[in-house]
Amino acid sequence: EKGGYEHFMIKEIYEQPKAIRETMTGRLSKDDSTVLFDELKWTKEEAAAIKKIVITACGTAYHAGIVGKYYLEQLARLPVEVDIASEFRYRSPLVDSSTLAIVISQSGETSDTLAALKEAKRLGARTLAITNVVGSSIAREADQVIYTWAGPEIAVASTKAYTTQLVSLCLLALYIAKLRGAIDQAALQKIIRGLKNLPEQAHEILEDVEPIKTFATQYGFNEDVFFIGRSLDYAVALEGSLKLKEISYIHAEAYAAGELKHGTLALIIEGVPVIALATQTDVYEKTISNIQEVKARDAVIIGLGFKGDKNLQKYVDHAIFIPATEKHLAPILAVIPLQLLAYYAAVTRGCDVDKPRNLAKSVTVE
Ligand code: F6R
Repeated sequence: EKGGYEHFMIKEIYEQPKAIRETMTGRLSKDDSTVLFDELKWTKEEAAAIKKIVITACGTAYHAGIVGKYYLEQLARLPVEVDIASEFRYRSPLVDSSTLAIVISQSGETSDTLAALKEAKRLGARTLAITNVVGSSIAREADQVIYTWAGPEIAVASTKAYTTQLVSLCLLALYIAKLRGAIDQAALQKIIRGLKNLPEQAHEILEDVEPIKTFATQYGFNEDVFFIGRSLDYAVALEGSLKLKEISYIHAEAYAAGELKHGTLALIIEGVPVIALATQTDVYEKTISNIQEVKARDAVIIGLGFKGDKNLQKYVDHAIFIPATEKHLAPILAVIPLQLLAYYAAVTRGCDVDKPRNLAKSVTVE
């Protein structure tokens, strides 16, 4: 059932090129001009009626929601709030009939997410679920559903569910953007072409995992690791850090790179590994200055950037490169080396990769 892989997690990491392709199947027009969602079929008027979006989810799905906020704000130009489901449901949220409430859940059974969905519905919002499980409680409760079509995810640590949630959110943002006239055709087409290249590019990353294995063995016994990045790189840093802590039990923290000097820099001392993501060109120089800040404290820096970025190598101790893509799509590729790093660190430490201590795949209790 593991198809020759040692663990479900690594099998599912390797299934990502296929899963990403499945998420897009039938949802892009042949000429790359439009996103098609037969399951939504919104009119321009319906799209125009949305004044605000709230996204709620837990864990990895919440991290996907943070990326979704960037997509929906930057592409569809709608204000978006992202909230952890267990917080949202108790904070008396400002939601009404002009709100689109999006919930994200791999299993479709997470009780806090389901309760957040019910609360949003009760307050009159239009609801949309992004989930991987057909006919799940969340799929049944929501007004509309976008399935991620990632195939069953068995490992407790979520991998292909996350990347396919990002693809779904990007498609949704483009769909709403077009209906609302918020994006020009050339920009839309560029992202669609980028999306179509993702399966091949994800495959390319998975072909050469040796350097990541080496880092994992080299740094796998450190007790603290930091992840830094700005903008969408920060969102990915959050997910990379969660992956590492949940399966390898290494204490990992993600910080918005610009926030370090407001406290956390005190923890950066000689030899502490810092994974620095630098795929977002509009904040690239700023990220490089933050890398220099941690370098000055003798941290060991593993930089993650686009292939061809020769500059990055000058500032980091080791570099991991991913194929170049549109800035919005970078998270979908950048997370893959971080999943692999977490996986190989856990293997190095002899952890039970597929069933980390204290965790369950589906959290159906509060
Ligand atoms: C982390 C992980 C969890 C889940 C969270 C939500 O790897 O798997 O953080 O993402 O429990 O689960 P779903 O998406 O099923 O609602």
